[in-house]
Amino acid sequence: MDQQRTVTFDPAEHPPMERQFMLSQLVVPRPIAMVSTRSPTGVANIAPMSYYLPITGDPMLLGITMGLRETGELKDTYNNAMASGDFVVNVTTEVFRDRIETVAMEAPSDVDEYELAGWTPVPATKVTSPAIGEALARLECEVRKVVDLGTPGRIFSEVHLVIAEVVWVAYDAAISDPDGRIDPLRLGPIGRLGLRTYLRTVDDGAYFLARTPWSEFIDNPKEP
Ligand SMILES: Cc1cc2nc3c(=O)[nH]c(=O)nc-3n(C[C@H](O)[C@H](O)[C@H](O)COP(=O)(O)O)c2cc1C
Repeated sequence: MDQQRTVTFDPAEHPPMERQFMLSQLVVPRPIAMVSTRSPTGVANIAPMSYYLPITGDPMLLGITMGLRETGELKDTYNNAMASGDFVVNVTTEVFRDRIETVAMEAPSDVDEYELAGWTPVPATKVTSPAIGEALARLECEVRKVVDLGTPGRIFSEVHLVIAEVVWVAYDAAISDPDGRIDPLRLGPIGRLGLRTYLRTVDDGAYFLARTPWSEFIDNPKEP
């Protein structure tokens, strides 16, 4: 980094919104969990969540950070997941591409977001939350632990890190390669960059790097 052009950011001197925006601009690209849930009164809900991470394979855990709505209320996704104890992560791919921001609108809780997006709710296999029929892949999740973080009631501060166990996975055979492995390019995930910018993986952006085990490299060190 050129010293003359270096811009610095001291979190202590910025409000929560600017701190979170800095994370959102620099922790990129992020995968997008298209989270589907259902309310206790039966309203189907969808929200994209990119503060989302895989955690471990045993038990098979993932985590999603759910914050507050602009009004300061808890998000429907969080309320629904706490009430039912489950949710579905539908993997965001080309099929969701043009509707990500549509389902991110903070619509009243009684609005069915499947109708807004033109997607189809389908029953999941192991959990009560519906899944999105158009998804190429989904992870059915049961809530295992919630870590409450930040200052209660403060937007861009209060968040709930929801840790969930994946109890079922389903995907379209079309995303498998001839050896039966999920092919990253056939899946075609969409990522979140900063601001309202999204990243497609279907064009020239994706590339492959071979991995050499250390034991082979040390016997024959060379540039890859
Ligand atoms: C690409 C994208 C990623 C998002 N990631 C998150 C996230 O990780 N956590 C969160 O609380 N909100 C996130 N949001 C905002 C929610 O999707 C938005 O507040 C949504 O309307 C919540 O809806 P709900 O109240 O129906 O759950 C994201 C929005 C977009 C567009």
